[in-house]
Amino acid sequence: MSSADRLLKAAAEPATAQDAYLSVRDLRIHFDTDDGIVKSVDGLSFDLERGRTLGIVGESGSGKSVTSLGIMGLHRTARAKISGEVWLDGEELIGAAPDTVRRLRGRKMAMIFQDPLSAMHPYYSIGSQIVEAYRVHHPVTKRVAAERAMEMLDRVGIPEPRKRFRDYPHQFSGGMRQRAMIAMALVNNPELLIADEPTTALDVTVQAQILDLIRDLQQEFGSAVIMITHDLGVVAEVADDLLVMYAGRVIERGTAEKLFDEPQHPYTWGLLGSMPRLDRERTDRLNPVKGSPPSLINVPTGCAFHPRCPYAELTGGSSETVVPELREVAEGHLAACHLADEDRARIWTEEIEPKL
Ligand SMILES: Nc1ncnc2c1ncn2[C@@H]1O[C@H](COP(=O)(O)OP(=O)(O)O)[C@@H](O)[C@H]1O
Ligand code: SF4
Ligand SMILES: [Mg+2]
Repeated sequence: MSSADRLLKAAAEPATAQDAYLSVRDLRIHFDTDDGIVKSVDGLSFDLERGRTLGIVGESGSGKSVTSLGIMGLHRTARAKISGEVWLDGEELIGAAPDTVRRLRGRKMAMIFQDPLSAMHPYYSIGSQIVEAYRVHHPVTKRVAAERAMEMLDRVGIPEPRKRFRDYPHQFSGGMRQRAMIAMALVNNPELLIADEPTTALDVTVQAQILDLIRDLQQEFGSAVIMITHDLGVVAEVADDLLVMYAGRVIERGTAEKLFDEPQHPYTWGLLGSMPRLDRERTDRLNPVKGSPPSLINVPTGCAFHPRCPYAELTGGSSETVVPELREVAEGHLAACHLADEDRARIWTEEIEPKL
């Protein structure tokens, strides 16, 4: 797109669209498979500023990981059909040359995964992998890079970093490996960090430590963070904004405060209902969402959530036939649901809130 086109487009869109550090516009990622087209991400838009954390929440299979890999430019295969725009610090990535995206990956944007072993090579020491990650983007000697790597290992709380530098991934515990992967992701001071279920495989204590660490590092480096999780409890502490995904789409978006205090979408009510209460046993679940997420090859008509929604019959048939648009239901708070405002308010105050 020429700069004149961009200016015109920017003028036609809300002022925030091109100003944000990361701006995702109508992102679609579909996979052509033997069973049919999988619509993993189907029209996703959001903005993220530096210094803020966006939580992306949804059940397994809702398109969270495909979204994050898409932003990182890691779905460039023949079977993936990608459209939309991803603007990172003023540069559009979906239409960019592979080299441009590769250059930005690692340096401006980095990712941490649930399973550090998938991101690390089993046959190279932790230290040498961080050294390489640094040297890809910085023309320095191995010795300088090693100093930097040890600094990072120390910074993420690995005891005796000089000694552990030579260890292989399998010699680290799960929590330490996760720290090492964070060190590797942050070694180039990326301005965008995407953490995809970074604590799912860890026990509760280590989970809390890793979340604290990500929060501290973000404050120190002022980066933008996307925290992806199926567990609302994980983002309750760390996210400024939340985006709830269902079947490849955004069904609710707003500040974390608003989403937790006054959630607007029946699916979010269900997710909150399945969140373990701090003062209760994990087994005591309230109003969890019933059933399982749909196949993304045969997405239900209308609102994709309608087969599982207890309130679908209140919308006079629209839930089954019309895809609900994401619309502003309160200031800065968007939801995609056909329920009338009065119905939503009544259900929330009479049925849901008293139980939570
Ligand atoms: N490379 C691929 N080819 C085909 N389908 C895929 C591919 N990657 C992911 N999917 C499908 O996309 C959907 C969303 O997956 P994913 O983003 O991993 O979900 P989540 O991270 O929310 O659990 C799933 O139905 C998954 O099977
Ligand atoms: S649009 Fe209908 S089915 Fe979808 S969440 Fe709202 S009430 Fe439920
Ligand atoms: Mg995932």
